[in-house]
Amino acid sequence: TAGPTHEPIDPVRYIANRSSGKQGFAIAGALAALGARVSLIAGPVALPTPPGVTRIDVETAREMAAAVEAALPADAAVMVAAVADWGAEAAGLKIKKQDGVLPSLTLVENPDILAGLARHPQRPRLLVGFAAETNDVIDHAIAKRQRKDCDWIVANDVSGDVMGGDANTVHIISADRV
Ligand code: C5P
Repeated sequence: TAGPTHEPIDPVRYIANRSSGKQGFAIAGALAALGARVSLIAGPVALPTPPGVTRIDVETAREMAAAVEAALPADAAVMVAAVADWGAEAAGLKIKKQDGVLPSLTLVENPDILAGLARHPQRPRLLVGFAAETNDVIDHAIAKRQRKDCDWIVANDVSGDVMGGDANTVHIISADRV
């Protein structure tokens, strides 16, 4: 998976995040170049599809979860997407602006696709999660690996101007080392 998800508020507005998709697309391209058969389940980004990769475009976290399910079985899953933790109870019609009235949003929890895969009867043999943290990066990533029950966590320090950039440094956390 790669990129952000868009969670509709109404037919013209959505909640999103700053994920560019670059990291996930680069990994998908690298895996294909190594000879893997790659399904890239991409949130809304305008990046070109890497050579040799089968791309499935989705918008919401729920659509991404369904596309991941449809891509199984897989030997490995690399879950790079910045999936929105919450969607909104979306209005069917555009919410109209009214002077002095602020609309309220009701958020609903999205499925955790990575944690779902960890419990799945067809769990891929290698399950790689990602973490984007601004502080205590390694400690948070170690805890996340245990909580989500994946094999590795790739920890990104996003405290600087990292999101959207072309260069990045990561820590890879497995059960026994960093
Ligand atoms: O909990 P957090 O969003 O920090 O976890 C990040 C990891 O979990 C990433 O690998 C991301 O792709 C995955 N994730 C997911 N479904 C969610 C939230 C996160 O697969 N709803």
